[in-house]
Amino acid sequence: MEVRIPGDKSISQRALIFAALADGRSRLQGLLDGGDPASTAEALRMLGAEIPPLGADISVGGRGLRGLLPPSDALDLRNSGTGARLLLGVLAGQSFDAVVTGDDSLRRRPMGRITRPLTDMGARFQALGEEGRLPIRVSGGELSPLSYELPVASAQLKSALLLAGLVGGVAVELVEPGRSRDHTERLLAGLGVPVLSGGQGDRWGVALTEPPESLSPLDMIVPGDFSSAAFFILLGLLRSGTEPLILENVGLNPTRTGLLPTLERMGGRVEAEELREAGAGGEVSGTLVVAPSELQGCDVGGQEIPGLIDEVPILAVGAARARGRTRITGAGELRVKETDRIKAMVENLRAVGVEAEELEDGLEVEGTDRPLKGDVRSHHDHRIAMAFGVLGSLAGNEIRIDDLEVASVSFPGFWGQLARVSGTCQEPRP
Ligand code: S3P
Repeated sequence: MEVRIPGDKSISQRALIFAALADGRSRLQGLLDGGDPASTAEALRMLGAEIPPLGADISVGGRGLRGLLPPSDALDLRNSGTGARLLLGVLAGQSFDAVVTGDDSLRRRPMGRITRPLTDMGARFQALGEEGRLPIRVSGGELSPLSYELPVASAQLKSALLLAGLVGGVAVELVEPGRSRDHTERLLAGLGVPVLSGGQGDRWGVALTEPPESLSPLDMIVPGDFSSAAFFILLGLLRSGTEPLILENVGLNPTRTGLLPTLERMGGRVEAEELREAGAGGEVSGTLVVAPSELQGCDVGGQEIPGLIDEVPILAVGAARARGRTRITGAGELRVKETDRIKAMVENLRAVGVEAEELEDGLEVEGTDRPLKGDVRSHHDHRIAMAFGVLGSLAGNEIRIDDLEVASVSFPGFWGQLARVSGTCQEPRP
């Protein structure tokens, strides 16, 4: 059986932002038509970019690096952390004020990590509510170069700072404590903007030393989202029978696929086939063939974490069905995602009958083959809802999830695909 994976959420939002900053018209194919890119697109429209309704093949009219227009209202990024954080970087270098806000979940997430280094570059920020949280007023303008050590491995922070360097026309040199996803660097390189990057012991350095005067338009195909594929990878491994599940159009950027070696260690059989370059964005995509497998618990932590950070909820579901104990550490960042994912996973796993413990920076899960039954709460987090959707779809389990609609921020059509593959039916309530 086959599943086609929808466009990558991180790359789709970056593609829209770069297209809005380019001179001329960009062609974007394979964009994710989901809630987060829709929020980012709406904010960019309010800044003057010409963006039609999102679809499989769209043409975007850019305004140039410093040509965005002052918005007539607050930019509401709703649930999109990537949209809000990357736009704070873009707005830092524009010569007007703008207010950035979001939904309840996004307004609880830390923004000080973005505004502090951008303040060092010369932008000004005013928190309109709680300090370090949205809504925030940005007063952009002339920026100075930045040399900065990131307190956390974060692609959103790194990208916000690279974008500020790009729009401000100033050099930015960064060191990360671990290697976060590199889509921004690949997009820049694809547009002919040199970005230096390389290991520095355990840390990772990235530098934009020669920001260009202008950005050429993009012509790119967005690959499928590995993080969306991850739900079907686990379903393919955990479901009964012998038939492999074939996942088509999966982005296989090595900074995103950290789940694969971890699953291999746990005994999971996943093969990548038909690798191909996805064109101007500098990404690789392919097909994954997933065979039902007996999983074994394992320890996951340290430098492995940035490469599978969004996959921890579904990995914890795999752990619940593996033999023995799984211990995930070094993942404290999960506490500041769309919800506190450590707390949400542990509470929900317990609610359906799995032994699980919270650690300060991770969780421990004891695998079981008992039928799992109960009610779980998504906490308005798409990945929590989808992870329990997969667990609930396995033979013998009965799990009710309070909010199914939330999956559409990153994976529209998820519940239909899950029902088709697993033979269960759980459709969003109206
Ligand atoms: C993202 C980066 C990651 C990830 C998030 C999307 C991005 O967060 O968890 O879902 O698009 O850059 P970090 O900024 O913490 O790496």
